[in-house]
Amino acid sequence: MARLVIVSNRVPPPRTRGAVSAGGLAVALQSFVEPGTLWFGWSGRVTEETGSVPEMTEGDGVTYATIDLGSEDYDRFYVGFANSSLWPLLHFRLGLMRYTREDFAGYLSVNEAFAAALVPLLRPDDVIWVHDYHLIPLATALRARGFAGRIGFFLHIPFVPPSVLEALPPARELLHALCTYDVVGFQTRTHLADFLDCAHRFIGFAVEGDDVVTEGRRVRAIADPIGIDAAGFARIAARTVSTAYIQRLRESLAGRDLAISAERLDYSKGLPNRFDGFARLLKRFPQHQRRVSMLQIAARSREDVAEYQALRRELDRLAGDINGRFSQFDWVPLRYMTQTVPRTKLAGLFRIARIGLVTPLRDGMNLVAKEFVAAQDPADPGVLVLSRFAGAAEELSDALMVNPYDPDDIAEAMHTALEMPLEERQARHATQRRAVFEVTSASYCNVFVDALTAA
Ligand code: F6P
Repeated sequence: MARLVIVSNRVPPPRTRGAVSAGGLAVALQSFVEPGTLWFGWSGRVTEETGSVPEMTEGDGVTYATIDLGSEDYDRFYVGFANSSLWPLLHFRLGLMRYTREDFAGYLSVNEAFAAALVPLLRPDDVIWVHDYHLIPLATALRARGFAGRIGFFLHIPFVPPSVLEALPPARELLHALCTYDVVGFQTRTHLADFLDCAHRFIGFAVEGDDVVTEGRRVRAIADPIGIDAAGFARIAARTVSTAYIQRLRESLAGRDLAISAERLDYSKGLPNRFDGFARLLKRFPQHQRRVSMLQIAARSREDVAEYQALRRELDRLAGDINGRFSQFDWVPLRYMTQTVPRTKLAGLFRIARIGLVTPLRDGMNLVAKEFVAAQDPADPGVLVLSRFAGAAEELSDALMVNPYDPDDIAEAMHTALEMPLEERQARHATQRRAVFEVTSASYCNVFVDALTAA
């Protein structure tokens, strides 16, 4: 059987396997990778020069090969084009997009460096699966170095319609690069349809069904929603509730309901609107004052990007404002932490929460929504309040759906969740649970690898 080679910007170091923080592609893939797999990417270190010879480590039969990024490449590729141009653009935030030709050149050259370091490790019959927006040009770079085997690409974040994509100066170049792959995967049908639309409009390729037909080649485009190891996460959640950590939280709640949110501190997650929604709940429905506490975990992320620094300052201010306005001498409404919380602890926190608030302004999928559902006790489940702009909304239609741009909508959904009778909570949770147990990380990976093998 052909060897699978995974390429992603972040590679979890073997020693942290199973203990990675909330969400993200590394978590989803970790439960799938089989012994014999090669996983290539960035070491997470910034050094003087970008590495050319990968550092090799082994863990559970998987070989991890990583290279360092030089500081200029880190600035242009990671901070620059990937996270200041592509990330805001593909999350529909044109106002936050910054673009320079130098950054784009840095993005291309890091993709070249990845290809140059990877090619000596490849066998002709390897099947390569490339992940996410950092590495769109990788197939082009690998083909130029003579790799002729199958290469697939999966985009973990949203794709945008032509009227948004056209703002990016090298849009056409990136579409050509995407069409170099044999299979291109998206989280939802909506993202897939937008990609087909862009490929047709901007580079004139024909679209037949879900395939893009280029000069003599066919690129298969698929929608393949990512999932979690639902059974595993449910087991961890059930186990963790009896730990001292969760007992301490229960004691500190003193019988109050818990509303929880956990994610990276990122402007796509809609945190200021959510804080505002919580403040409006307390103001418009004062019966919930003293009876609910909100825990917001927002793990610090991409701290070298200016917009993330600005968001952190804004959230510090908003959290102080809410607590100043509503706190009483023995009750603080909002608990706000920017540290990373291990997934095992998160599972326990989700299980005892009455509300899971997942209200991104835009999100490829959002695995936290699925983790919240999997973690619940089916006999007494909490309620998921979910943004209709998260990819997960296509599968979890029985959540309380909100428009995250409207803080009153969030407040009303929280009120509904806090008042919801047990039977309705059970019924809504049961259908969501079925969805989360049906599309798992393993089924997601199988669908993609099967499509790639058949291509
Ligand atoms: O899910 C999107 C994503 O960018 C992943 O590619 C990445 O691993 C994760 O978010 C965390 O972001 P970063 O690698 O920038 O810390």
